[in-house]
Amino acid sequence: MLFPRAVLSVLALASCAFAHEMAVDAVKDAELYKSGKMHEMIMAKKFVRPYYIFVFSKAAGAYKSEQYPELGFVPCIDGLATAIKGDANNTFRCDNVDLYHFLSHSALGSTTGEGSSSWGWTSDDGREFIAFGQADGAAFIEILPEGKMSYLGRLPTYSVNAIWREIRAYKHYMVIGSEAQGHNIQIFDMKKLLTIDPKKPVTFDKEKDCTGIFKDLPSGRSHTVSINEATGFAYANGAAPRTSACKAGLIAIDLSDPSNPTSPGCASEDGYVHDAQCVVYNGPDTAYNGREICYGYNEDTLTIYDMTDKTAPAILSRTSYTGASYTHQGWLLDATYQEYLLMDDEYDEYDGAAPAADGHPVTYIWNIANLSAPVQTGYYKSSAYSIDHNQYIKDGVSYQSNYGAGLRIYDVSSIPRDPTGGGVKELGFFDVYPEDDGEVNGGVIDFVGSWSSFAYLKEYVFVNTIERGAFLVKRTSTSSGGNGTRKG
Ligand SMILES: *[C@@H]1O[C@H](CO)[C@@H](O)[C@H](O)[C@H]1NC(C)=O
Ligand SMILES: *[C@@H]1O[C@H](CO)[C@@H](O)[C@H](O)[C@H]1NC(C)=O
Ligand SMILES: *[C@@H]1O[C@H](CO)[C@@H](O)[C@H](O)[C@H]1NC(C)=O
Repeated sequence: MLFPRAVLSVLALASCAFAHEMAVDAVKDAELYKSGKMHEMIMAKKFVRPYYIFVFSKAAGAYKSEQYPELGFVPCIDGLATAIKGDANNTFRCDNVDLYHFLSHSALGSTTGEGSSSWGWTSDDGREFIAFGQADGAAFIEILPEGKMSYLGRLPTYSVNAIWREIRAYKHYMVIGSEAQGHNIQIFDMKKLLTIDPKKPVTFDKEKDCTGIFKDLPSGRSHTVSINEATGFAYANGAAPRTSACKAGLIAIDLSDPSNPTSPGCASEDGYVHDAQCVVYNGPDTAYNGREICYGYNEDTLTIYDMTDKTAPAILSRTSYTGASYTHQGWLLDATYQEYLLMDDEYDEYDGAAPAADGHPVTYIWNIANLSAPVQTGYYKSSAYSIDHNQYIKDGVSYQSNYGAGLRIYDVSSIPRDPTGGGVKELGFFDVYPEDDGEVNGGVIDFVGSWSSFAYLKEYVFVNTIERGAFLVKRTSTSSGGNGTRKG
């Protein structure tokens, strides 16, 4: 299923010294993206994992996560968090970020491992909980104030196991989708965790313990889910197959009664949506104030939708850019005033596409002041060698899960003043994947390490990893920067 690099480079857009927005390449869009070829290839890599097998050919397999011991507090000193002295696999490169706790997927109740996304919920009395994906289900933990994770139980996969399990919160519910055939979308009430004794973790019933299950996906599969709490809608994105009525676009799910989720419509017009952020608009394009706007990351374009009318959604713009290889995910710089967004492309590093040709993850900066004509104003690059994956922004700070380079934290609050990205600063990092540290470039361009993080917590950042398990980390108290974002 692998695409020879030569073919890709022929198809690649001409490189250019400066990244900028551009019109969609119609031929490439049809042959590589709308056909599903590009996405199939990337998903195949996550299954086959050629580099991984190469590195660990002699090992029993890194997914046997019981091999990774529990780790407690380890400060980051001179660039290293040395959890076990003399053990390279338990010595983590870091900067301004300390380790508080590590638990393997096995210790977190999984028999398969293969971690994916995560999201959190805070109870009325301030207790913090996380739901996170493993191939065999969603695991639940409480984050204790002293920086410990307490495993409370799990909601098993609805059908078969699959590494892709995407979770987002709607009020006190978690909305859980997966690429597993026949999975549907589980809606789980986190309040069920409030009374669990951590000495007796609970395995919930995949169906009976859900408040509701959305069963109207074409094959039960979805790639990601998005939530707009303000309107009470979830969106299932990338729901296979692409030939279905909604063409794997945005499928709106009405959550006003979480026990009876229903879909009033979908946006099929630009086909497959890999990920999206949907919000009620407030920003410079005042004609749209109060409308429900979705920012779609659509494989080769940033596609902006007006989803206010679910039965007749409108596409406001569809814009490609220099280096477009696989438009993957992004987040608004400030969701309360939508003037900029940050976006990652999952395949530009692998593909050697400018400006990511040197293998340093590129975050693209978009000015979206005009929703009909987004402008790419610049980008910033990670100092590490890896691929970038999900990023989320909190108070002017971007938390990126950059696969083998781990959690990377950037102060992006300068962007409204300097949209070129010239003022973006790395505040710190915690490299959860020491296995690739000895490689020529200090890392690998591959789908290993961290998939997603969750930083919307009082103090800590939760980091889910594919192979090992979950890390709880925190920026060192002496580090500074990243203080707030601009409000409109
Ligand atoms: C690190 O872990 C891998 C996988 O278990 C193993 O093959 C390798 O030998 C370990 N390296 C060290 C230095 O212990
Ligand atoms: C936004 O861009 C479109 C397309 O270039 C243009 O027609 C429109 O006037 C712009 N809107 C504003 C508010 O400037
Ligand atoms: C962040 O902003 C607050 C309020 O303006 C201020 O008190 C604090 O010192 C700032 N912190 C840093 C690290 O700049």
